[in-house]
Amino acid sequence: MRLPIIAGNWKMNNTILKSTLLIDEIKKSSLNKDVEAVVCVPFTNLSDVKKAIEGTDIKLGAQNMHWEDNGAYTGEISPLMLKEIGIDYCIIGHSERRQYFNETDETVNKKIKTALKYDIKPIVCVGETLEERENERQEEVVKEQVLKALEDIDNKNIKDIVIAYEPIWAIGTGKTASSDDANQMCGFIRGIIGDKYGKEAKDNIRIQYGGSVKPNTIKELMEKEDIDGALVGGASLVAEDFVKLVNY
Ligand code: PGA
Repeated sequence: MRLPIIAGNWKMNNTILKSTLLIDEIKKSSLNKDVEAVVCVPFTNLSDVKKAIEGTDIKLGAQNMHWEDNGAYTGEISPLMLKEIGIDYCIIGHSERRQYFNETDETVNKKIKTALKYDIKPIVCVGETLEERENERQEEVVKEQVLKALEDIDNKNIKDIVIAYEPIWAIGTGKTASSDDANQMCGFIRGIIGDKYGKEAKDNIRIQYGGSVKPNTIKELMEKEDIDGALVGGASLVAEDFVKLVNY
């Protein structure tokens, strides 16, 4: 049985004050205990959000990290710094980072390895562009991203990795992939894991769908066999919507 995981990706939104207000608002509702709820917040808000979620089952995530422990990397944040705050998850290779900050399959791979070394669970994002989808290249593109992300990563680590299938054309656009298309791609990714790591890994790895997920689309997505959760941007910024997503 795979534990469903709903992760909010706040992106570059919410000041410290706003983020603690949002958590306070979320805490007014009870969240389904059979679903893992995660908030991935800006670096500057991590410590305060960590305190705000104390006593709840909500898990904390960052949105990026460097692969080195420390060094001359002006403006970067290291896994040691994040570990000390006590994060559980870190989004790695989000398409916005690949697109605007030159993140490559190679840096994604290094970051995953470092995250695993520090017991930070990576949420690894993959997904095709609209042009690639229109040319029916989504499987080829996603397969390459998955295999490169997981290069030299051991079978024993697979249970700690979450993969988020996020078609770029669906992110922040209001265009969700149909639940069938999302499930087909999540199943395709599960197949890649099975081929590389065997049946147990295939059965255990959690795969999320992401891209304009809203309270009114979550249930249908979660009913699908190969979709174990969602990575949610916009809707995770509204307390009521986040609660509805977790309690789908
Ligand atoms: P969205 O973002 O839900 O706003 O489309 C999803 C994501 O980028 O993780």
